[in-house]
Amino acid sequence: EMAEKEGYDHFMIKEINEQATSVKNTLTQKDNIQKIIDDLDDISRICFVACGTSYHASLTGKYLLESLAGIPTDVILASEFKYSAKTLDENTLVIFISQSGETADSLKALDVANETSKTLGIVNVAGSSITRRAQYVIQTQAGPEIGVAATKTYVSQLTAVYLFAALMAKDDRLLNDLDKVPDFINEVLEDVESIKAMSQRYNYAKDFFYLGRGYSYPTALEGALKLKEISYIHGEGYAAGELKHGPLALIDEGIPVVVVIPPGDSHKKTMSNLEEVKSRGARVLAFGAADDEELAEKAPEVFKINPEVSEIIAPLVYIVPLQLLSYYITIEKGFDPDKPRNLAKCVTVE
Ligand code: G6P
Repeated sequence: EMAEKEGYDHFMIKEINEQATSVKNTLTQKDNIQKIIDDLDDISRICFVACGTSYHASLTGKYLLESLAGIPTDVILASEFKYSAKTLDENTLVIFISQSGETADSLKALDVANETSKTLGIVNVAGSSITRRAQYVIQTQAGPEIGVAATKTYVSQLTAVYLFAALMAKDDRLLNDLDKVPDFINEVLEDVESIKAMSQRYNYAKDFFYLGRGYSYPTALEGALKLKEISYIHGEGYAAGELKHGPLALIDEGIPVVVVIPPGDSHKKTMSNLEEVKSRGARVLAFGAADDEELAEKAPEVFKINPEVSEIIAPLVYIVPLQLLSYYITIEKGFDPDKPRNLAKCVTVE
């Protein structure tokens, strides 16, 4: 096992560090994805079905496909699929995102979707059940992932979804921007010391909130999931605009609030949410652009990311420091991030 970790303390941190490569390798699937799209005419609706981290990649897919390609898109948890699958038809494409390709709830839903609709699997494990049963398959190129908490497979799933949406929308600018993502990820990884320092300041916390809007909302959800999976700290991801509909009641002195605030359309509104929690005593940890002066002024703690990472590609990059934060908080607390209690890498029971 030591040899497989290649000098890293845990598989999780090794896999976090492999993410630029995972993205680069998955970008090679562009031509395959174009072939699938050419074959799929008459798609009027898309429906993603997934669990866990794969569900968060799916949510990002909804924002992309609706705003870039104008295709109405739903996202359904695989375990809830049977309660809402009645409106699928032959012009619906049902996309199953799964690292393992063996999650029981997803497989069950795939069998149902195959009866009425076109089905596409976005799967990491070659030869797995979903790859055998879906009508079309995109293989993510992350390589084997051992850590229970998904990291490099998440950015690979996102890469596949971005390629699919950009090709559907014939958005050459986005395709071009995707090629820069591996370098942006490596820049974040080079700044690991800032995250280690941050983790020492916040490992006392019992609860964390994660806020984001638009493309950054699924990032907030995934950041919170990473925290609760391995550190056993309660992490809650929220759409920043929903704050005043409940969670604001829980914000008081000292509670850490992670704010995902890349440059773009949502920036201004997220900033006002940041100020809202700050004025109630929250300790704000902001993740934003290195040249964001307003953020530097308003947030006591900012992890700085390349300003070229706009909000549309931010999900591929901004998740990396959040994974690192969860990892180092878990190390501080003395838990094993590779083997969280009660969780399995693949859930084969419904
Ligand atoms: C389990 C794993 C998660 C994963 C989820 C969905 O809960 O611990 O990391 O996101 O299953 O698995 P899948 O293989 O379908 O992506």
